Amino acid sequence: MTGSDVCGAMMDTVILLHLHRDHSYGVIGISVELRTMEAIYIDTYSGQDDIQNRTGELFAMAYRNALALDVLGSLGAHWWFNKHEPEVSWSLFSIVALAPAPSVLLLHEHMPMLQAALVAYSLFVLTLFTSIAAYRVSPFHPLAQYPGPIPCKLSQIWNVYIMWGGKQHEYRTMLHDVYGPIVRIGPNELSMVDKDLLPFILGPQGMPKGPLNADSRLTPASEQQKESYSLIGCRNPVRHAQLRKAWNKAFAVSPMKDYEDLMMLRAVQLMERLEQFCRERPDGVGRVDLAKWISFFSFDFMGDLIFGGGFELMRDDDKEGHWHGMETAIFAPAMCQHVPWFSPILRVLPFAGAPMRAFAQFALHYSKVRAATEVKRKDLFYHITEATLSDSDSGISAYPLILSNAVLAITAASDTTASVLSNIMYYLMSNPEAYAKLREEVDDAFPLSDASPINTERFAKMPFLSGVV
Ligand code: HEM
Repeated sequence: MTGSDVCGAMMDTVILLHLHRDHSYGVIGISVELRTMEAIYIDTYSGQDDIQNRTGELFAMAYRNALALDVLGSLGAHWWFNKHEPEVSWSLFSIVALAPAPSVLLLHEHMPMLQAALVAYSLFVLTLFTSIAAYRVSPFHPLAQYPGPIPCKLSQIWNVYIMWGGKQHEYRTMLHDVYGPIVRIGPNELSMVDKDLLPFILGPQGMPKGPLNADSRLTPASEQQKESYSLIGCRNPVRHAQLRKAWNKAFAVSPMKDYEDLMMLRAVQLMERLEQFCRERPDGVGRVDLAKWISFFSFDFMGDLIFGGGFELMRDDDKEGHWHGMETAIFAPAMCQHVPWFSPILRVLPFAGAPMRAFAQFALHYSKVRAATEVKRKDLFYHITEATLSDSDSGISAYPLILSNAVLAITAASDTTASVLSNIMYYLMSNPEAYAKLREEVDDAFPLSDASPINTERFAKMPFLSGVV
């Protein structure tokens, strides 16, 4: 039958249509059963309109069903995330990747695959984010009763943004000024500045470790052990206690004396370098970036403490770029502390992960050298290894222990120490009265006339120094 033909009246007509993905359709068969021979005129154009309308309805229904399935999948995913709080990002991403798949297949009946995937995934993500955001600011959230700004309640990304600007400490202080001693600083995080709450927060067993450092290891994958040897990242309380035993012994009174000896050498070196800067100037006033010199001091000292020596930044400057490498490498993992699930992804990103991999290689090299070297001076790993090997129950061998902890220790110990010392110097210089008071206390405890080595036991009787630290 073509065009606007005349055909038989009173007939049952079944039109078989094939619905194309671009919403057009093609007639693939017409079955006509004539009932009478009376001819009537069929306006095929209006017939085509009917078919088009019907097709449109069918298409809209199928489209609606696919989208409804997508929205349901998204709400289901939110429910699952909320219930299970997955920390392994791959399981989280598998769900996000797979949940919209049925909708994609349904939509693909009506549109090209790429378009179907775009529609389904966009709607899925949009619904998921809206649902999560609505829940986080709703009164149903378990932390709803605690005050805090909306961006903090909505996402940890806000905290990454604040940290990126380098003023997180000021921001947090401001929040406590505005909202009081307990502030909701993240969707699932509270900040508390009331020391009376500490016993309740820690509890009788102490608070278990969170995910902050669990996945922030820099050790290359090829060197990672099946079992955790890294104390700082270990979240299993039994394993942590096992590893911690050796560290406790390594920080007992007698080993501390060995570290003090190492530290004194470096402290004297720093003092001499600063004095030299002053002598070089005609007015006798040296002008240096003190924070940088304190960092060099702590990096050199931590090198002595952890790797048995090897760094000479105070003598040679950072000519090999080790310190700069560490500062660059720890920037991205520091950001990830707000979003720990991002750590494994970060490591494989070519640009963001490159400084981390370079620093890991450097630390690994020194760790291997240290692990293979017989120790002349009693450093941290001498004491940790001694304590570990003397404990026959530990089942831990020295090599992975040193490897896993050395990389972390150099970052955990040198940058933290440098930051604390730099801040102390900054505040002392900005508060001349405090500076004078501390100086008086130090001069009393260690008079210039007394040439004997510094006796650190006197620190215990220096209350203002303790207060400053
Ligand atoms: C002023 C300097 C320092 C600051 C501010 C500091 C800060 C911290 C903080 C906040 C933690 C807890 C992290 C967590 O459990 O998630 C920690 C743990 C740790 N720090 Fe430090 N740290 C400093 C110096 C050092 C030094 C000098 C060393 C080693 C030589 C060191 C080694 C460790 C280790 C091994 C842990 C893990 C302890 C455990 O899990 O039981 N830190 N540090």
